Amino acid sequence: MEEKLKQVKEATEKNGQEHLLNIYNKLPDEEKRQELLDDILTVDFKQVNKLYDISKQPPAFKNSVIEPISYVDKSKLSKTEYEDYENIGIKEIKDGKLAVVTMAGGQGTRLGHSGPKGTFDLGLDTHKSIFEILTDTLIEARKEYGVDIPWYIMTSEENNDETQKFFKDHNFFGYPKDCITFFKQGKLPMLSTDGKLLVNEDGRLKEAADGHGGIFKSLLNDGMIYDMKARNIEWAFIGGVDNVLVKPVDPILLGLSIKKNVLAAVKSIVKAHPHEKVGVFCKRDGKPSVIEYSEISKDMAEELDENGELKYGESNTLCNLFSLKAIEKVSEVNLPYHIAFKKASYIDKNGEIVKPSEPNAYKFEAFLFDAFEILDDIAVLRVKREEEFAPVKNAEGADSPETARKLYLDFHNS
Ligand code: UD1
Repeated sequence: MEEKLKQVKEATEKNGQEHLLNIYNKLPDEEKRQELLDDILTVDFKQVNKLYDISKQPPAFKNSVIEPISYVDKSKLSKTEYEDYENIGIKEIKDGKLAVVTMAGGQGTRLGHSGPKGTFDLGLDTHKSIFEILTDTLIEARKEYGVDIPWYIMTSEENNDETQKFFKDHNFFGYPKDCITFFKQGKLPMLSTDGKLLVNEDGRLKEAADGHGGIFKSLLNDGMIYDMKARNIEWAFIGGVDNVLVKPVDPILLGLSIKKNVLAAVKSIVKAHPHEKVGVFCKRDGKPSVIEYSEISKDMAEELDENGELKYGESNTLCNLFSLKAIEKVSEVNLPYHIAFKKASYIDKNGEIVKPSEPNAYKFEAFLFDAFEILDDIAVLRVKREEEFAPVKNAEGADSPETARKLYLDFHNS
């Protein structure tokens, strides 16, 4: 015990985090104090210092050359092109080369749902949850192509147990259990504006999910890449959890990638209006990239091209196809961290719980799409919103259960 405390004292003093010991001394019981010491001993202080440095830098895109990206419009493919891509894609699927990965690590705070987002009841007559709707796409693919597609579901520390329990309680919605694998995404400490580690109300270090860009390292470290290889997988569709019109098993996207000889491809839709809350694809210093809705300037969002269309209008649907080669390549790289400023309650050095009414802490997240520039080129397939994009993000208004339900019903009834 003495030895552990000594180590923690040295590490915190060396790294300007002495306040943690003040909090340690104020914790009510021995078990809590032990847990905090153990948490502190796992901290990579070098990384914490780097993260704090990042929080002080301006967003990277300001110094870059941004240009529109070229895309293939699915609705404008000739019959020959369409059939060509489709045949190539169908063969890959039937040969068992495709896996599906769902990123379900986010907490769905905006939606106001207390459980994992995938457990949300969309409000259909059938009362299907988002997870059941996603499972339906794989069951359909199974009927169409005669293969059981392996499905990997990325959870987070916060929602892993609840997610797995939900699937078990619902008998995996009829999909073969041995085709579904759960893995957890990574986490990172949250920092105060002066670079201090925070301790949450339970006396543990305050940590948060490391963003969906952490998926590549998690796929590697949790053995998913190994598992995919053992199953002869060559491609993985990686999508978000919240799009109830997602089409993860898509021969056209697969065929296009193979024909264009790219390691990754994405699906875009036309931005509904300049300020829709979606990221847009672009070229950043000649490499494929996404500008997030939180980063794009008003002028850039509203700029038109020579045809009167939004110059940056190819919106990110978070529907990504990666070759296993690309996943392996990216898993060896450290993607940059983006910063979000959040409200985070914590215990202060006097042992008092503080519940801030304004944002007070930095959260660090890697974004999946920062992987694109490592791959040099990707294919962008423009698809139709009414066929493939019905996100459930907010409790009300745009991208809410109401709008998603309507899009879902319109599509399935047509
Ligand atoms: C995201 C995209 C945006 C895109 C929009 C389309 C980002 C940063 N932006 O915005 O470009 O136009 O979706 O709907 O992604 N997730 C994890 N772990 C995490 C964080 C997120 O698994 O640590 C998952 C979420 O469960 C969700 C998806 O990633 O399925 C998207 O995350 P979210 O935070 O909802 O992104 P948006 O702001 O909606």
